[in-house]
Amino acid sequence: MSSFLSAAWGADTPTAPIWLMRQAGRYLPEYRKLKERYGFWRMCRTPEIAAEATLQPVRRFPLDAAILFNDIMTPLPPMGVDIDFDPGPVIRRPVRTPEAVRRLRVPACDEVAPFVADAIRLVRQACPVPLIGFAGAPLTLATYLVQGGGSADYLEFRTWLLRNPGLARELLDMLTDVTIGYLRMQVGAGAQAIQIFDSWAGIHHERGYAAFGLPYAARVLDALGGLGVPRIYLAVGASHLYPQIATLPAEVVSVDWRYGLNRCRQAMPGKVIQGNLDPAVLLGDDQVIDTAAVQLLRDGLGGAHIFNLGHGVLPATPPAAVARLVDTVHRFSRPAALAEAKHPEPSGERSFDPNGAGFTAGNERKFCRHRIVSLLRAGEDG
Ligand code: CP3
Repeated sequence: MSSFLSAAWGADTPTAPIWLMRQAGRYLPEYRKLKERYGFWRMCRTPEIAAEATLQPVRRFPLDAAILFNDIMTPLPPMGVDIDFDPGPVIRRPVRTPEAVRRLRVPACDEVAPFVADAIRLVRQACPVPLIGFAGAPLTLATYLVQGGGSADYLEFRTWLLRNPGLARELLDMLTDVTIGYLRMQVGAGAQAIQIFDSWAGIHHERGYAAFGLPYAARVLDALGGLGVPRIYLAVGASHLYPQIATLPAEVVSVDWRYGLNRCRQAMPGKVIQGNLDPAVLLGDDQVIDTAAVQLLRDGLGGAHIFNLGHGVLPATPPAAVARLVDTVHRFSRPAALAEAKHPEPSGERSFDPNGAGFTAGNERKFCRHRIVSLLRAGEDG
C-alpha cells in the first residue's frame, strides 16, 4: 500500500507522506497557461483539462498523493445556483429567503457532476500515486450560498444563522444529501481517499458548530464509511472545536498552522493528523523551509502523520520551495528521529551523524554536511 494510504489508515510510516492543499494552482506556470487559455470554471468542467491540472504537480514533484483539480462549488450550479469566480466564488443572488432555499434542487448523484467522474477515471489511468476526491462540508457551502462570496468575518451569514435556525437546517439538510451523493459518485469513479473541506467552521462559537456544523459533517462522513476509503476532515482556525471534531467519523483530521501538531494529536486521540506547515514558510529561503519542516516533523512523531500545509499553497510560492520541502520531508527518517528523541546525546553537542539523526540511511551522501547540521540545529532551536 502507498505510504499516503498506509498513514491515512493509521500506520506510523517510516517517512511522512506529503501532499499539499492547492498543489495545483497559480504558483505553477503550467497551471497559469491552462487557466489563461480556458478559464477556471471551464477547467473544472472539462475532464481532460481537470485531469491535466491534477497531474501537473505530481509530474513536477514526487508528491505522495494527488488531489482532484476542481472546486467545492462544483455541486451548486446543478442545484440551481449561478456562480462566477473572481478569483474566489461570487454568488450574485445569495440564498437567504425560504423561497430561495426551497427553489434549490437536490439532483440525483450521477447528475451532480458527471464530468468529475470522467476526470477521476482519466487521472487514475495516468497517476502513480493515490487520488484524493473532495467536497465542501455543508456548513462551508452554506456560508458561501448565504454570504454570496468570501468575507473577512462572514457577518451576514452568522447573523442569518441566528435569525433563521430552522431554515438553516433545511438548507444544510439539502446540501448534506447532495454532498453524500456527489462523494459516493467520486469513490465509485475511483477516488482512493476523500477530504471534506470545512474551511469556515472556525468562525463559529462551539455551540454554533455543535448545531450547524458537526451533525452535517458527521452525516456526510458516516455515509462514506464502509466504502474502503480513508476520510479526511479539514477545519481551519478551529482549535476551539477539536473536542467536537475528535468525535467525527473520520480517520484523519487536517489541521491549520495555528496550533502545534503534538498538541493537536493530544486533543484528538486516535486520529491521524495531517498538516500543518504555515503556507507562508514556503515564501522563505531554504533555511527557513528546512527549519520549519524539521520542527514540524519532530512534532509529528509518536503516531501517523501526513505532512501538509495548514491551508493552501499561496500563489506567490516559488515552485523550487515546494521541491525543497518535499525533498526535506522525504529525507527525514521518523524511526531514527524517534530513537534520537528517546536517547539524546549525553553531551550538549550532537555528533551530527546523519544515520542516527533522522535522515534515511544512504541518502546522506547527497546531502551537503552544512545542510544536515543546519537542519538539526534548526530542530534544536525550537
Ligand atoms: O487543492 C487542490 O490542488 C485541488 C483543487 C482545489 C481548488 N479549490 C482549486 C482552486 C480544491 C480542493 C479547492 C477547494 C476549495 N475551493 C475550498 C476549500 C479549501 C480552502 O481553500 O479552504 C474553498 C473555500 C474553495 C472556494 C474557492 N475557490 C476560493 C476561496 C477560491 C479563490 C482562492 C484563491 O486562490 O484566490 C477558489 C478558486 C480556486 N479553486 C482556485 C483554484 C486553483 C484559484 C483559481 C485561479 O486560478 O484564479
